[in-house]
Formats: sequence, structure tokens, C-alpha cells
Amino acid sequence: MNIERVNKKDYNEIYELVKTAFETAQVSDGTEQDFVLKLRAGNTYIQELELIAKNNEEIIGHIMFTKLNIKTNKGEYVALLLAPLCVKLEYRNKGVGKKLVYTGFEEAKKLGYEAVFLVGNPQYYNRFGFKEVGKLGIKNKTEIPNEFVLGCELVQGALDNIEGEIDKLD
Ligand SMILES: CC(C)(COP(=O)(O)OP(=O)(O)OC[C@H]1O[C@@H](n2cnc3c(N)ncnc32)[C@H](O)[C@@H]1OP(=O)(O)O)[C@@H](O)C(=O)NCCC(=O)NCCS
Repeated sequence: MNIERVNKKDYNEIYELVKTAFETAQVSDGTEQDFVLKLRAGNTYIQELELIAKNNEEIIGHIMFTKLNIKTNKGEYVALLLAPLCVKLEYRNKGVGKKLVYTGFEEAKKLGYEAVFLVGNPQYYNRFGFKEVGKLGIKNKTEIPNEFVLGCELVQGALDNIEGEIDKLD
């Protein structure tokens, strides 16, 4: 299995993968595949941080990190939003998700990003170091319950001196 940067020729296959994968997600509104299109078209998109997992020629997993502006006491702090992440049903529980997340972290660090946020299940994301944003000094101003709004420092201490709030995660 390889992790690669996305290529335009992969877009249709990714659309189908995301759509199908979220049909078996614990939480889904059924529009994650369109969220991918919206993120790609927006000004927060980072082409280097849309990654796919490939098994031979088949795309079996997908992850995106886009820019997330956090309002802080010192102005805007640019972090990343991890969303969406999915793995093909037949390939789950084999570490594909883990590899996508950690490869994404490495690529993000190379680009100078120091913190990642997301909406997700803490039982899954705790293993990567994600915790409730409140514990990182960031207020969750969205309508999403605090327990699902998570953050993770890519560089230890990156958020130590940041007091801020997230008001939008979609
Ligand atoms: C969540 C998802 C990306 C994980 O991918 P994966 O390749 O199976 O994950 P990994 O192999 O790296 O990790 C598997 C571990 O995660 C756990 N896990 C998987 N999905 C989980 C979930 N929704 N909640 C809690 N734990 C979960 C497994 O039980 C397994 O635990 P273990 O290591 O203790 O045995 C995949 O299940 C998926 O695509 N789900 C549908 C889409 C989705 O829900 N995306 C996440 C949105 S927040």
C-alpha cells in the first residue's frame, strides 16, 4: 500500500470512494463526497495535503487537510482542518487510516503547519494525540458538542501561547 498525493485523474474514483465509505460510517450526513468538492474549490485548499492510499491501482483510502483560521488574541492563526478521512470497507482495521493520518502530519509539518483540528470520534482520534480543543486553550464556538471538536499539536507546545476560538468547521 502506498500513500500518494492526489492527481486530477483520481477525482471521480475518490468521489465514489468517499460516498460509499461514509454509507458505513457511524456518523454521516451523506454529503461528504460533495464536501470534498467544496473544499477543493475553496481558498482553504492545499493540493499537497490531499492524499490517497493505493493498493496496486485501486484507491482504498483518502484524506484531506485544508486551512483553518482560528481567531486568537494575536490575530488569525492558520491551522489545519482534517476532513474528511475514509478507508474502503474491505480494507479497514489494517492501519490504512493510521498511515494516511501520520503521512498527512509529516507533509503538513514540512509545509510549516503546527496544529490540526477536526470533528470526529475521540475513541478513534485519541490514538493520534487529538484531544478536546478546550484542553488546548481553544474555545469551540460551533454548535457541535465539545467532545467531538478535537485538536492536535504537530509541534509540541505550538498552541501553548495561543488563546483562540473556532467558529466554523465546515
Ligand atoms: C474511521 C476510518 C477512516 C478508520 O480507518 P481504518 O483504516 O480502518 O483505521 P486503522 O486501521 O488505522 O485503525 C483501526 C482502529 O480504529 C478503530 N476505529 C475505526 N473506526 C472507528 C470509529 N468510528 N470509532 C472508534 N474507533 C474506530 C478500530 O476499532 C481499530 O481499533 P484498534 O486499533 O484498537 O483495533 C474508517 O473506519 C472509515 O473510513 N470509516 C467510515 C468513514 C468515517 O467514519 N470517517 C471518519 C470520520 S470522523
